[in-house]
Amino acid sequence: MPRPLPFGAALVTGASSGIGEEMAHVLGRAGVPMVVVARRAERLERLAATYPDVEVLPADLLTADGVAAVVARIRDGARRPIDLVVNNAGFGTSGPMHRADPDRLADEIRLNVLALTLIGHAAVNAMLPRRRGWLLNVSSVASFQANPGLAVYSATKAYVTSLSEALHEEVRGTGVVVTALCPGLTRTEFQSISNTSGFESVFPSFAWTSVGLVARAGLRGAARGRTLVVPGALYKVLVAVSGALPRSLTRRLSRTISRR
Ligand SMILES: NC(=O)c1ccc[n+]([C@@H]2O[C@H](COP(=O)([O-])OP(=O)(O)OC[C@H]3O[C@@H](n4cnc5c(N)ncnc54)[C@H](OP(=O)(O)O)[C@@H]3O)[C@@H](O)[C@H]2O)c1
Repeated sequence: MPRPLPFGAALVTGASSGIGEEMAHVLGRAGVPMVVVARRAERLERLAATYPDVEVLPADLLTADGVAAVVARIRDGARRPIDLVVNNAGFGTSGPMHRADPDRLADEIRLNVLALTLIGHAAVNAMLPRRRGWLLNVSSVASFQANPGLAVYSATKAYVTSLSEALHEEVRGTGVVVTALCPGLTRTEFQSISNTSGFESVFPSFAWTSVGLVARAGLRGAARGRTLVVPGALYKVLVAVSGALPRSLTRRLSRTISRR
């Protein structure tokens, strides 16, 4: 019998698909009330129709208004306090950086870095006075090394992992926990959006982590107060090995793999 989740109420960004949607299902099944955030409101409404206590907050986190709406909900003292914030919305861009559309790269940084930071800032400020809370930032195994072919994406995720580790220490002992979830390859809409659908034929089936495992590992890791969560044995080993190798070697290995 798994331990019940300790969260009183959650807010999940990017809850309309993939890892965020799966987290919303895990939370919904566990009876945790939640606020679900994404641009596709009709998908969020489906979650609201499935579980008893779901608030739909459609927002485009590429806009200042969208981020402000989420921050306002987190700060809203008149409503049920949110003690779990999952900063999950994000996307990637594959291919050589110099050939990518600069506006798309700016959006990637705006969503993966800026929106995540502002939402995390609001979350920690709301949680500290209550001496209770969890901030779960969705990063990636790509955050642990440079990845030619996913250069900007990996750099945004390196920021997320570094930020989360630093915040974890800043709030240590306060009752607030900050965790970075670092999944490896997981089949979601990410592949079509980041133009990495070719990975399906390049990487064998054992390299793919299920979205259910990723969502459960992230929520369980946050509940246990972990700093970093890498779902799946394969990726735990890869992260440990790549940390022990010279960076000059890991980036070249990554370049070789991305060219296959
Ligand atoms: N899949 C993988 O292999 C993998 C591996 C490591 C890390 N990750 C990370 O996991 C997180 C979730 O990705 P996923 O794989 O679940 O991909 P996904 O299926 O494409 O889901 C992305 C979510 O982000 C939301 N989103 C995108 N742009 C947004 C915006 N401007 N405003 C608000 N919400 C927005 C999307 O909702 P709307 O389109 O409805 O707005 C969607 O719900 C990302 O941070 C990603 O970098 C994924």
